[in-house]
Amino acid sequence: MNRLVNKEFRRIFALQKQTKIAMATNRTFTMIKPDATDAGHTGKIIDRIIDAGFSIKAMKWTKLSLADAQAFYEVHAERPFYGELTEYMSSAPIVAAILEKDNAVADFRTLIGATNPAEAAPGTIRAEFAESIAANAVHGSDSDENAAIEGAFYFSAREMS
Ligand code: CMP
Repeated sequence: MNRLVNKEFRRIFALQKQTKIAMATNRTFTMIKPDATDAGHTGKIIDRIIDAGFSIKAMKWTKLSLADAQAFYEVHAERPFYGELTEYMSSAPIVAAILEKDNAVADFRTLIGATNPAEAAPGTIRAEFAESIAANAVHGSDSDENAAIEGAFYFSAREMS
């Protein structure tokens, strides 16, 4: 069911693109992941995000079911790490947020660092807080299109400022 909903988001986004009413390109989507919420790093990570010039347009503390995590990461369904990833993402609370800043997607990915914390540049959020490639503290969208899809997975238009 959730996979169908996710597919529907992608279909709606494609339609919005055609009609040129897509979400603003100065926004990105993030999750503070279970390892970081469990370790009590949420406040420090939010401070780092705000200090880097992002403003918060929507935010919630929530916990994903396994089905939610499978739907969110459906694009990775064929990857060998999909099972590990979705079990981990549903193991403890996460914080989901929509962030705004010029060049948001690229600047946020610079702020968080490489997916594998062993390769993350010093000073990045993952270098400081991540435990492993799976438990890597934060998610950051990889494109404007995915930022809109992922934000819509968690937030209704009414919940975004
Ligand atoms: P994220 O940015 O949330 O998007 C996909 C996630 O898959 C990624 O962060 C990692 O946490 C996870 N991931 C990527 N590669 C691997 C891997 N080799 N093993 C486990 N998890 C991975």
